[in-house]
Formats: sequence, C-alpha cells, structure tokens
Amino acid sequence: MMFSFKSLAVAAGIAFAAMSSVCAATPTGDVTTTTQTYTQEKSIVYVLEKTKYEVTPVVEKFHYITKDNCTVENVTPLVEELKAVLTVSIAELHALVGVDVNVLLLTSAGVKVTVAVVAQLVADILILVFGALSFVLGLAHGAVYTTLCSLFAVVGGLVGTILSLVLSLVGGVLVGLAVAIHGLIGEVVSIIVALDISVCISLLGL
Ligand SMILES: *[C@@H]1O[C@H](CO)[C@@H](O)[C@H](O)[C@H]1NC(C)=O
Repeated sequence: MMFSFKSLAVAAGIAFAAMSSVCAATPTGDVTTTTQTYTQEKSIVYVLEKTKYEVTPVVEKFHYITKDNCTVENVTPLVEELKAVLTVSIAELHALVGVDVNVLLLTSAGVKVTVAVVAQLVADILILVFGALSFVLGLAHGAVYTTLCSLFAVVGGLVGTILSLVLSLVGGVLVGLAVAIHGLIGEVVSIIVALDISVCISLLGL
C-alpha cells in the first residue's frame, strides 16, 4: 500500500501520536535531500523506530522483577511478550528485502538518514533488550539462572536476526554501520558474550 507523504502525515498523526513523542529522534545534521517517495512500511527507519517503541514497555516489566519474584514462572510471560514484538519486527524487515536502498533510508520528513542515525536506533534496541536480560540474570541463581539463560538466548537470537537483516539491507550503503553500532553498545557487550549470541558476536566483531 502506497501513501503520499500528506496522507501518511495524517494517518501518522492519528495512529502514532503517542509514538511520535517517544520517537522524536528525527535526524539532525548532515542529511541529504532526495526525490524518492517515502512510504512508511518501506522505511527501515520507521520499522526500527516502531520496534524500539514497542520493545520499551516490555523491557520495563523486566526491570520491575525483584530478587523475591525472579522465578521462571514470572519471567517466562515477559520473554514471550518480547519475542512476539521482535518476531513482528523481523517480519517487517524481511518485507524490505528488494526495496531500493534510497527508499529504505528515508525518514517521514523525506530525508535520507545517515549511518549514525541507523546505528543509534539499532544500538538502542540492543541496549534495551540485552540490558533487561542482564538485569534479570543479575537477580537469578542456581536452576533459575540456568533456565533463564536458555530462554534469554532465544531472545538474543531474535535480536541477532534483526541485526543481521539491518546490516544486509543497508550495511552496503551505510559504510561502517557495524563498527558504529559496536561503538555504542559497550554496556551490553558482556551479556551478549555471556549468552553466546553468535550472530551478534560475529557481525559486530565482539
Ligand atoms: C515483582 O515484584 C515487584 C515489586 O513488588 C512488582 O512491581 C512486579 O510487578 C513483580 N513482577 C512480577 C512478574 O511478579
């Protein structure tokens, strides 16, 4: 489905009013104007912003877990919720395969994003997800810890799939994207390595 920018702006105003305030991080600085038409569902920027927006309330629930209620029974539904969000995002990124990279990189303002903007969005998603997993693992012990590690490895694998799709979609044009992402995720490198998320480890050279 194609939207003109005008109808998109109206639809976005109605349907994503809440989102736009959260995702107010429109790119600043060295942006390039382009004659390509922005289409919401063909923008990798839109998909990543939406993912970040949808992941945020779910990871907040991880941060409400305490030492006393850090059980497999309590954490499992949160894991399922996170997996559902990430799975939708993966499907949306898959749908971008074959789209002109100049269209993929457009923002709703019709400007082409820089490597720094995409790197920041991907890094934000990685930090949100792996930060939450790390927080909960820090509360867990014994058999709970072991079980949560295997549940969390599945979540990490989905994030790895998102990372690999982003890099294959736009990594050829956004030179240095993997390096830029690596440079932003220092705080979660140890949990990625501890969970042995091989896709992230190899793509980012951790
Ligand atoms: C765990 O306990 C905290 C503090 O009482 C609470 O806010 C949180 O919702 C609880 N989480 C679960 C999953 O039970």
